[in-house]
Amino acid sequence: MKKLLTLAAILLTLVGCTRERTAPLDIIPMPLGTQLLTSCFTFDQESKIVIEAPKEVAERITKYLGTTTLTLAPADEAYENRLLLKISDKIDGISSPEGYTITTDASGVQIEATAEAGLFYGIQTILQIIENEGGVPCGTITDEPRFAYRGMMLDVSRHFFDKDFVLKQIDALARYKMNRLHLHLTDAAGWRVEIKKYPRLTQLGAWRDHPVWKVWWNSGRKYAEEGTPEAHGGYYTQDDIREIVAYAAQRHITIIPEIEMPAHSEEALTAYPEFSCTHEPYKQADFCVGNEKTFEFLENVLTEIMELFPSEYIHIGGDEAGKASWKNCPLCQKRMKQEGLKDVNELQSYLIHRIEKFVNSKGRQIIGWDEILDGGLAPNATVMSWRGTEGGLKAASMGHKAIMSPGTHCYLDQYQDAPHTLPEAIGGYLPLKKVYSYNPVPETLDSTQAKYIYGVQGNLWAEYIPTPEHMEMMIYPRILAIAEVGWSAVEVKDYDCFRSRALTAVDYLKSKGYNPFDLASETGNRPEADAPVSHLAIGSSVTYARPYFDGYAAGGDTALVDGKRGAWNNNDGVWQGFIRGGVDVTIDLGQSKAVQSIGADFMQICNPEIFMPAEVVISISEDNENFEELTRIEHKIVRDDALTFKNFAWKGEAKGRYIRYVARPGEYGGWLFTDEIVVE
Ligand code: ACM
Repeated sequence: MKKLLTLAAILLTLVGCTRERTAPLDIIPMPLGTQLLTSCFTFDQESKIVIEAPKEVAERITKYLGTTTLTLAPADEAYENRLLLKISDKIDGISSPEGYTITTDASGVQIEATAEAGLFYGIQTILQIIENEGGVPCGTITDEPRFAYRGMMLDVSRHFFDKDFVLKQIDALARYKMNRLHLHLTDAAGWRVEIKKYPRLTQLGAWRDHPVWKVWWNSGRKYAEEGTPEAHGGYYTQDDIREIVAYAAQRHITIIPEIEMPAHSEEALTAYPEFSCTHEPYKQADFCVGNEKTFEFLENVLTEIMELFPSEYIHIGGDEAGKASWKNCPLCQKRMKQEGLKDVNELQSYLIHRIEKFVNSKGRQIIGWDEILDGGLAPNATVMSWRGTEGGLKAASMGHKAIMSPGTHCYLDQYQDAPHTLPEAIGGYLPLKKVYSYNPVPETLDSTQAKYIYGVQGNLWAEYIPTPEHMEMMIYPRILAIAEVGWSAVEVKDYDCFRSRALTAVDYLKSKGYNPFDLASETGNRPEADAPVSHLAIGSSVTYARPYFDGYAAGGDTALVDGKRGAWNNNDGVWQGFIRGGVDVTIDLGQSKAVQSIGADFMQICNPEIFMPAEVVISISEDNENFEELTRIEHKIVRDDALTFKNFAWKGEAKGRYIRYVARPGEYGGWLFTDEIVVE
């Protein structure tokens, strides 16, 4: 029967009933190249598998397929209705061991690769096609990744996510061809990996007196003894880690551990205060770099870590060191003198260099956050760029590998939709579309430097993510955008097409028990941000009696009269930020004009200290000397968790050439942010 069907399919092809398929495959990430027909091969009860690969590879693949919807009995090569998996020495058009080709005709599907990883990714492609579309279209797919490193970071310190949660995410990451899972295992909020030599790291450092980070952070930040009623948290035992590492390896994902140093280490330095400059618990976040015992501790910890994690890379943190205690510490000062280090940045760099040497001596490499560039980059280090892209690009220009995870596009702890529709997040606004728009290799980079851009990573910091359900909502579907940024060639990327495929993926993830964000009901950007305004002051010159903050210039002196309105987030390049003293600007309309309204929006989000003004004064003048006060608005600032927007405006009848808009901060000080002074 199958033979007859095969014959029929071939005949149909010959008489032209099969046409070239133009619809994109409903899979993520989009493959590099496809030449497909509208006819399909469909697996059925009679379908079998043929594997032409070394025995261990065949065994591993068979075992993996047994966990999927593509569980097939083995057959010999001549069998007609089959999935053929084949490892070849060389394949035209494929240079990556993760690449593959798929050739499909009436007799079945053939996946060919030069390495096991390529077969694995070919299988992922077939699984998605079968599950999303049914039949596999006849023709060929030629595919390989754009970047070798496609990662996600999970912050398991701020809130602990257990072994089963991690295993579940590994399944999804593998489906979308992600190949690195970076675990942020240590931070002030909890040490999450068992270290046999230093049991207090987890007996005390893994537990705290409140389950929710924000409450803990704002109420004394106390740790608790394991097993006591007030202890909330947890950690991975060494057996848990071995299980996670092995499970991930079977899915071609490498787990990269991060052990923070020299900063973000309050939990370690409360468990072992002797490694801080002052030797007092609860006082320091930075290790003492002057003390030899610190190095003994860090090397012992890293030795156990390297025994547990076979990854080439060990992430050693390096971000956001305060370095204050080093300035008054006799041991740190002595070290600086002895080593000829001119400042504390060089002292940090001394630690990173020394740790790199140790890690290299075990045959491994370090990754650090981009602060490891400060004070001199260690010779073999890979830089993870988070404070924008500059760090990564600088590292690439120095011939160091860079992994791009800029906060602007890759920090998935930000709101993905209108903040009032979502649980509290750290702030910001990073919708799926913006993540998808990221290109890790800017056009300014020449091809030699571009080679050092090793890949891309999405980061899930968990300060505001207390539950597994919430974490999955933050991960999906945005990590799928990272997956496509990391895998797919720029030429095959298209947001509308991606969004449609992401909707399919969201349904799939829901059917498998994940809790993705409901993309279908996305509210979208702040409506004002998509609707530039035209008004009397557009293009006018603006004089600032108080400067805006350079980091939030939003385009500079024209920002408040350019017609552009801001998004949900203050760092969108449209909101202009003012610290200390607030806003005091005068707009010159160029000639005297009749005006009926003058107003500006402000935003408030209290966590980053952005507040409404307490007072707004709007005045008008013909000569820029004698001003008539049009309105004085008093506002009572209420500190709460909400992101709010409010317009402070005058309406009436007036005439003049100069408009002065003053907005003063209130009792909490902090920032004022406004996007446009609209004059009508
Ligand atoms: C970081 O976000 N501090 C790396």
